[in-house]
Amino acid sequence: MNKITGFLFAAFAALTIAGASPAAAQQPATESPADLREIEYGKDIFKTKATCQFCHKWDGSGDQGYGGNALSLRVTELTQEQFIEVVKCGRIGTGMPYHDKFAYTDKRCFDTTREELGNDTPPIANEYLQPREITAVMKYVFARMKGHGEKGSYDDCLDFWGKETKQCDQFKP
Ligand code: HEC
Repeated sequence: MNKITGFLFAAFAALTIAGASPAAAQQPATESPADLREIEYGKDIFKTKATCQFCHKWDGSGDQGYGGNALSLRVTELTQEQFIEVVKCGRIGTGMPYHDKFAYTDKRCFDTTREELGNDTPPIANEYLQPREITAVMKYVFARMKGHGEKGSYDDCLDFWGKETKQCDQFKP
């Protein structure tokens, strides 16, 4: 490549990058369209079907309300596998509900049953979740919450609710 075509090539590359949408530029290159669809799906479960946000707040920063002290999913140290296990099995002796329909009917969860646990059995979730739904929720939390600071931003809030709501006011910059 001589100097002039080299320059033209670089200018063209710069224009192409500048023209890409800012949202696309912010996403790490590893999020394929299929990943983005799964993350959106997980968000919908977090928000509506499983109402995780009801106890953990919309941004997963945790809350002291109903269900006890729902831990922050933003600063959690759980691995992906451990996260999935907590959602399936809930957490024994706490308000974190289980989402696997057959949890504690057999020994799939922590090798124990409702019969053995008695009052320490975690509460039943409002809606059971299929394994692929639990994986999608995990992907959403790991992609958008975990490691993204202790609280969500105003933009995250608008994105979550899809519109301006009172709940976002306190996050205004
Ligand atoms: C009824 C309230 C409630 C709902 C609904 C709920 N949680 Fe929880 N969650 C809790 C509480 C309380 C804890 C804290 C348990 C403890 O003390 O260890 C918790 C803990 C967790 C933890 C463990 C975090 C850590 O770092 O140890 C994860 C992960 C979690 N919840 C994910 C979810 C997801 C995902 C959903 C939706 C599918 C959900 N929760 C729905 C109340 C709830």
